[in-house]
Amino acid sequence: MHIFSSTNYSIEIGDITQSSFAELLSSKYGSSRIVIIVDENTHDQCLEYLLTSFDPLKEAEVMLLPVGEENKVMEVCFQVWEALSEYKIGRRDLIINLGGGVVTDMGGFIAAIFKRGVDFIHIPTTLLGMVDASIGGKTGIDLGPFKNQLGVFKHPKMIYIDPIFLGTLPEEEILNGFSEMVKHALILDKDLFNELVDLTSIEELTALDLIARTSKIKVDIVEQDPEEIGIRKLLNFGHTIGHGIEGYLLEVEPIAHGHAVALGMLAESFVSFRRGSLSNDDFQMISELILKRYPMIEFTEEMIAGICELCLNDKKNDGNKINCTLLNGIGKGEIDQYVDASEITLSLEFLNQCSK
Ligand SMILES: NC(=O)c1ccc[n+]([C@@H]2O[C@H](COP(=O)([O-])OP(=O)(O)OC[C@H]3O[C@@H](n4cnc5c(N)ncnc54)[C@H](O)[C@@H]3O)[C@@H](O)[C@H]2O)c1
Repeated sequence: MHIFSSTNYSIEIGDITQSSFAELLSSKYGSSRIVIIVDENTHDQCLEYLLTSFDPLKEAEVMLLPVGEENKVMEVCFQVWEALSEYKIGRRDLIINLGGGVVTDMGGFIAAIFKRGVDFIHIPTTLLGMVDASIGGKTGIDLGPFKNQLGVFKHPKMIYIDPIFLGTLPEEEILNGFSEMVKHALILDKDLFNELVDLTSIEELTALDLIARTSKIKVDIVEQDPEEIGIRKLLNFGHTIGHGIEGYLLEVEPIAHGHAVALGMLAESFVSFRRGSLSNDDFQMISELILKRYPMIEFTEEMIAGICELCLNDKKNDGNKINCTLLNGIGKGEIDQYVDASEITLSLEFLNQCSK
């Protein structure tokens, strides 16, 4: 079992039946009412394992959320808050969020707001949830077209990460999480990146040790900069151009977030390479890894202009300078690098060449 203790919470990574979960349920929450929040898929694929492994959960209320980002909205929260009121859930009770990033973001928000805060525990069931979304204390929901527009910083009491849940996760979702693992390695850990390059099968991508090492990178960064004033911006690597690509294609032909981040990391590595801060060898290694795992897209001139426009509107910017995290080498992210639209155009033209 890998255990990381942070100031406000702990993370246990490994077999959940061997973790502190059972003891916590019977001691601290022995007389609490327990609510488990799931979505339709984690209800079908993950809930039974939890209920059969932990007797105290047999009495829990299960709240079923509709699947998907489009349901990470206030209307759904209202329904859950009303149900929590009906079940007379109080501040000594416990909410368990069993699901991917949508369930942990929204379930954390629901718990943080209800009666000014009910204890909650995350049990992430996607790779993205395990290495990224469940860690860092950001909870929230979307508002109209704005992602994560409403939310609060609040850490769960515990995070239990058990790769057993990944057994039913589709390959596309594994790759979604893998791009965040690559990002964590690229910004801070060259040795880890080299190991990720050498992986062959999809099963290898979800090895316990790799999940532990990549999630630890996020834990450490968040610990140093909980409110994203400085070093936490490292986690934005690949996300400026990635969000531009994702946002533009949303209206045309949506692609998965992890796929967009992978393309964004390649584009931002190209910008770093062009500026001379990333060596040719490092750039080639990054390109090879991303091209091996993620399909390339052809960008028309109109798309490139549209993506640049979205990058110029990114909320991280300073005036009309685009604030990016770039690379000073593999394992060395550099925050607050200002990029102009022409560099983004060139990077997307480079992606175009890769698609041919
Ligand atoms: N809070 C943060 O710091 C942070 C960081 C990154 C992303 N996020 C958020 O995370 C969300 C994306 O997370 P995600 O990629 O996990 O998406 P998700 O929660 O929508 O899960 C992806 C899909 O996998 C299904 N699923 C989940 N676990 C499964 C399992 N074990 N077996 C089979 N199917 C399963 C889900 O039902 C869903 O259909 C976004 O809303 C994003 O904003 C938050």
